[in-house]
Amino acid sequence: MKSSFSFVFLLILVLQLILASAHNGKYERATYHDNYEGAAQNDQNYDDQDQKQEKGPAKYDQNYKQEREQPQNDQNYEQEDRDEQDDHAPSLDIPTLLDSLSSDDLLSFGHYSKSCPKAESIINKHVTKFVKEDRTLAPSLLRLHFHDCAVYGCDGSILLNHKGSERTAEASKSLRGFEVIDAIKAEIEEECPRTVSCADILTAASRDATFLLGGPYWDVPYGRTDGKVSIDRDADLVPMGRENITTLIEFYQSKGLNVLDLVILSGAHTIGRATCGSVQHRLYNNYAGIGRPDESLDYGYANFLTRKCRWASEYVDLDARTPQAFDNVYYKNLQGNLGLLTTDQSLYSDPRTSPIVDALADGPSDFFEHQFAVSMTKLGNILVPTVHDGGEIRTKCYSVNSNN
Ligand code: HEM
Ligand SMILES: *[C@@H]1O[C@H](CO)[C@@H](O)[C@H](O)[C@H]1NC(C)=O
Repeated sequence: MKSSFSFVFLLILVLQLILASAHNGKYERATYHDNYEGAAQNDQNYDDQDQKQEKGPAKYDQNYKQEREQPQNDQNYEQEDRDEQDDHAPSLDIPTLLDSLSSDDLLSFGHYSKSCPKAESIINKHVTKFVKEDRTLAPSLLRLHFHDCAVYGCDGSILLNHKGSERTAEASKSLRGFEVIDAIKAEIEEECPRTVSCADILTAASRDATFLLGGPYWDVPYGRTDGKVSIDRDADLVPMGRENITTLIEFYQSKGLNVLDLVILSGAHTIGRATCGSVQHRLYNNYAGIGRPDESLDYGYANFLTRKCRWASEYVDLDARTPQAFDNVYYKNLQGNLGLLTTDQSLYSDPRTSPIVDALADGPSDFFEHQFAVSMTKLGNILVPTVHDGGEIRTKCYSVNSNN
């Protein structure tokens, strides 16, 4: 176990080096927040807040321990996490379709340095203010960025709010944070009209939100344009939490992301919440006709969720043990059958992804955070050239410009 862990740990490092050099390190330049100075205005206050929140047992721990103390029918609970393994050898190095479509020429770090030098500070100011008032908006912004980039690349298409747009799709039902982007856009339009794209705003906002949550910081290259097409059917292709690993790998691959990115970006579920509607199928599944929950779910955790999730609209933390901390406990949860979504837990039952989960869980949390910044940079750089070229700079993020 330990030796296979260090092997995978090394393998990931080597792979990351290869990937970084393939991109000249240009966008892979992730920086830890300890190296990062001054860009986030309120990090002092925020750190205080964070420390407070990390003290003491997490909410779930308390509830969970109580449940543990009641004797349960432990005989039914088995560690069956490895049952689904097949004979496929783990393959980390999946070639990606978009590797040749480099965003190098389209995006740059200095894109707004002359045309709108205050853009980043305006974005940061608003994100900080909103998140201070409602911390749950931070994970929501991160998810919103993912849902944007997952359809036609990062082009702000998720923000459009017309009949039949992505935003109105079933998969978008619980997306939040639109008002943050609208507020940022309003001030930026006053400062530098028709200059900064909504796609860039959302990308930077999700980076700032991650950092405010105690996650890593990375530099965002700019120059995305806003797409004019947004169709609900396309948004419903974004994974919803019940897919198998093959489907997830193929989906990521179609965006130019590999299996490493899949496991690392899933680590975003170290924070934030899901609606119970996303997990109820794991709880009330009629296994063998005796109404047992999904067997890849820890027995006590299943009981906890069954009680908590009577209504589909209830919220439940994605990271059962440290829901407020941006850390690698998400992966440790998977090792203990405490993954909330089917797709989370499957990362640990499929041989293509489980070694990566072990490496991230058993390595230092800093290792995860660094890798997260690297994969987030790749996510933010997904562009579809035709969409990019046909794009515009919207004046309002929720609708295309009227002169089209
Ligand atoms: C492997 C593919 C993924 C699947 C299947 C997936 C699925 C889900 C689901 C089902 C939810 C809960 C939605 C709800 O019930 O309201 C969720 C929430 C979330 N997802 Fe993912 N996700 C994936 C990848 C990502 C990525 C790449 C990111 C960001 C980098 C991300 C960030 C988040 C965050 C932060 C939340 C919490 C949102 C909030 O608290 O408002 N997810 N995801
Ligand atoms: C994964 O899901 C897809 C789509 O539902 C299905 O076609 C495929 O057979 C599944 N693959 C495995 C290995 O279960």
